Amino acid sequence: MIDLGLEWTPAPPLDDWSNHRLESVRKLILETTGESYEIDRLRCLPLDQDFGRWVLTDGESDFGILWVMRLSKECARVLAFSIAAELQGNGIGARGWRGFAKAANRSGVRAVQLEVRQDNRPAITMYHRRGLRPLGRIVGFYRGQDGWLMRGPLLPEASSQ
Ligand SMILES: CC(C)(COP(=O)(O)OP(=O)(O)OC[C@H]1O[C@@H](n2cnc3c(N)ncnc32)[C@H](O)[C@@H]1OP(=O)(O)O)[C@@H](O)C(=O)NCCC(=O)NCCS
Repeated sequence: MIDLGLEWTPAPPLDDWSNHRLESVRKLILETTGESYEIDRLRCLPLDQDFGRWVLTDGESDFGILWVMRLSKECARVLAFSIAAELQGNGIGARGWRGFAKAANRSGVRAVQLEVRQDNRPAITMYHRRGLRPLGRIVGFYRGQDGWLMRGPLLPEASSQ
């Protein structure tokens, strides 16, 4: 387990972010998922103000994001979850999920859904261990790769499954 003084912190509305900050997150998403977004599109994401705007930061730069919208009173949808490649696999994602889940639970959210590429073993394992299950296949989800729509209860901790 490494600790570089990085904290998961609620961020201000993306509308208030500088282009420079959004550009660095755009690159982070591209490098970690291969998905390419326009900055203006990121700025418009309908992130929930109470539990949906997490950044992993050292106070100066962003090293991860966990961005979530509210789909309904009781259900949230994860729109982006990325951690810089060199930091992955150290328990940081689990920590981010815990903070998000607790905040969302306090806001009455009990379920969560998201889309993930079928070849993304680490992410699928992480979600499966938190109770999410594939609900349906998304054909051609990303660059010819199929995806899973996963859904389940919103739990802060992994289970032993
Ligand atoms: C997916 C991601 C956010 C997880 O964050 P992380 O910091 O690497 O994950 P952690 O080290 O906290 O591990 C969390 C769990 O993920 C799973 N996991 C992590 N790395 C894994 C690996 N190499 N193989 C299998 N499972 C793995 C485990 O279940 C792990 O343990 P836990 O369930 O006991 O907590 C991060 O790896 C990432 O940014 N990946 C690239 C972008 C991406 O795929 N995002 C998800 C899109 S839906």
